Amino acid sequence: MVDLSARHARVAGDVERRVADVLRSGRYVGGPVVAQAEQAVADLLRRRFGVGVGSGTDALTLALRALGIGSGHQVIVPAVSFFATVESVLHTGAQPVLVDVLPDAPLLDPDAALAAVTPATRAIVAVHLFGNVACAPDTDIAIVDDSAQAVGTDPPPARGVLGAVSFYPTKVLGGAGDGGLVVTDEQALAQAVRRLGSHGMSAPNVHHRVAGHVGGNSHLDAVQAAVLLGHLPDLAVRIARRRQIAARYDAAFAGMTIPRDPGSTISVYVLRHPRRDALRSALGARGIASAVYYPMAMTAQAVIGGSPADARRRTPNAVAFCDQALALPCHADLTDADVARVTAAVLGAA
Ligand SMILES: Cc1ncc(COP(=O)(O)O)c(C=O)c1O
Repeated sequence: MVDLSARHARVAGDVERRVADVLRSGRYVGGPVVAQAEQAVADLLRRRFGVGVGSGTDALTLALRALGIGSGHQVIVPAVSFFATVESVLHTGAQPVLVDVLPDAPLLDPDAALAAVTPATRAIVAVHLFGNVACAPDTDIAIVDDSAQAVGTDPPPARGVLGAVSFYPTKVLGGAGDGGLVVTDEQALAQAVRRLGSHGMSAPNVHHRVAGHVGGNSHLDAVQAAVLLGHLPDLAVRIARRRQIAARYDAAFAGMTIPRDPGSTISVYVLRHPRRDALRSALGARGIASAVYYPMAMTAQAVIGGSPADARRRTPNAVAFCDQALALPCHADLTDADVARVTAAVLGAA
């Protein structure tokens, strides 16, 4: 689905020079390269502050903790996402409350979110899945953006008091390992996240609770920051090529496409097909890669007490999407011939 070696080749000279500079500097945790990457990605998301952390999962967890969310609280989460969105709520001690997505797109249904609000609700997580900005409900309850898949959208997600980014290697702006970032316009929240990721420390061996939580250890390493700075100048080119490929797919696959904003990064290109698994097997037989994002609604996850029956009853749109969605290769290292081959195979098999 993604060729990370080919992607590295696009920026290899700059990335390798920057990584070598970090290795020679001896400054591996914190320091100027991390600060530069934090600000560069915060600027991209049009936020004042960026705080590097160890992963997108940590970014979500620390963002929620910085808001003082914990035991006895509820956080509303859409039923279609990567499990990390749910997991991060559980890591704070709060209860994730899963709500359905829109009938025609795998994005939070704002009305369903509002209907799920209780006196215990402390936040709503808007997941900007596949590079598409979700519409958050109009409410005073804190919105947190799960922007793990939304770096580079135009415009960037704007509603969250805090946003969480992932630099997992397969993301459009991916590193050479795990990494994440919390973005916000509020200095006090940025400071809270930074302290939560540094053992709640104000000075060596002086530790505090932050918004009721004990700190931990979660940083964006300087080597990862250097890799990301080397990738950044290529981001606009990558996204433009993804949009071009997606437009070709859309034109060919009428009736199977899902709605998308023009400013989407197409972090993942997904179509819907009533016999998705048969289509996937037929593509596999023709040597075409495809992937299922995500095979089940979060309401069906046994680890949080869900089941397929529960999912069908509570979140039918999410279940229908998860049963039908198939992701196709869509990235900047595909040639026109590759795109034509994928298109022909889908049309031949659908
Ligand atoms: C929507 C979503 N949320 C959260 C995460 C978690 O990010 P990470 O893998 O960096 O922990 C991901 C990453 O795959 C994601 O796609």
